[in-house]
Amino acid sequence: MPPLEELDLPSFDYFDPELRGVRFHEQMLALRDAGWLARTPLGIVVLDHEAAEFFLRTKSAIFPGTKIAELFDIHEGALYEQLRRNILCIDGEDHRRLRSLVNPALTARAVERYRPAMRQYIAELFAAVAADGRCDFVAAIAKPYPSMMIATVMGAPLGDADRLHKWSNVIQRQFASNLFDERERIERAVEEFYVYVDGLLAARRADPGDDLVSKLIAAEEGGDRLSDIECVNLVLNVLIGGVDTTQAQLAQGIRLFAEHPEQWDALRRRPELIEPAVEEIIRYEPITPFTSRILVEEVEYRGITFPVDTVILACTFTGNRDGTPDCDRFDVAAQRGGARTLTFGAGIHYCLGANLARAELQEALGFLASRMADLRLDGEASFDTVHGIYGLDTLPITFAPAEPAPAG
Ligand code: HEM
Repeated sequence: MPPLEELDLPSFDYFDPELRGVRFHEQMLALRDAGWLARTPLGIVVLDHEAAEFFLRTKSAIFPGTKIAELFDIHEGALYEQLRRNILCIDGEDHRRLRSLVNPALTARAVERYRPAMRQYIAELFAAVAADGRCDFVAAIAKPYPSMMIATVMGAPLGDADRLHKWSNVIQRQFASNLFDERERIERAVEEFYVYVDGLLAARRADPGDDLVSKLIAAEEGGDRLSDIECVNLVLNVLIGGVDTTQAQLAQGIRLFAEHPEQWDALRRRPELIEPAVEEIIRYEPITPFTSRILVEEVEYRGITFPVDTVILACTFTGNRDGTPDCDRFDVAAQRGGARTLTFGAGIHYCLGANLARAELQEALGFLASRMADLRLDGEASFDTVHGIYGLDTLPITFAPAEPAPAG
């Protein structure tokens, strides 16, 4: 088998600004039909489920956060320090310890108690646009809703949700953008955010509650389980990780339904489809279409030698479609046979907020399906790039306000 660099692989321009929406689908599906590997200027894309999962899980690879910063000649400053201390960039025993402190607050069972707050926030946000029968769904609902939820989970004032959203939006770009152009903006947001987290920790120390920040403070004060600097960064990771992501997935989901009105009608008629519908959205349009790794050891896989420093982009968009019948159709009632989605990652860095995100999406869809009939696009959705978090900038929709069906 020739070395990786000599393999004749199809290639595509990952940085092509037009690579989004329909064109993104067409391009990726054509690559998938051609094989399981493709080349991009950034690294090698793996396209099938098994290979994507292998590279996400292998101990021979790490998340390339600091490596990417170093490529942009960033070796110090708030952005670099924050990346170095980001839970995604930590492995081994420290990583296990940090996860174990956050995990109990975000298990499937633990997030159940947040459902009433989810229902309340989604109802409040919807009430502001219900009578109009049209809105930009991103600005009206997808954007404010997850930051209100993360503020509630963390014990931050609800009035800070707007600022949390702004910081999340800018800081998440550290994984997606040209850092030569955006470094200053991200650096400033990280500095502001550290000051904010210090204030939040002081407030919760003075007045502890039943929230995640108070629990982390208790772990910190309880001895050697969490240092001060780890605590600050863990709070940052959860607050930042839980906003843009859910926003993007909810917006992409409503877009899919606006484009497939018969699917929305099915959801309105059959509320038991809410959970499968959330899984179908996550499967069909993952907002993390590429999850990256860099090899720290040479890897032999399927007879190919992947050298140290190879950047791997695990394509969840194509990987999610592997092994399910009629996989290129968006269908909330399809029996998908439980194929594991890669949208939340795989292996030790599997998303800590997956249960919270799923619950938020279920509550939002359940409420909206009961109140919006005749959901349609009211113009074109504006797509963000597929690098990092693949969200929508705007999503104009129209709908007919509806009354929920009586229970029973
Ligand atoms: C639909 C919504 C979401 C999606 C698609 C998503 C996706 C992901 C993915 C793909 C990873 C793994 C990245 C990697 O392995 O390189 C991840 C990690 C993470 N996510 Fe999420 N996420 C979502 C929502 C959330 C929420 C709501 C929170 C917070 C409550 C959160 C917090 C985190 C954290 C802290 C990590 C790092 C885990 C670690 O390094 O061990 N995410 N997420």
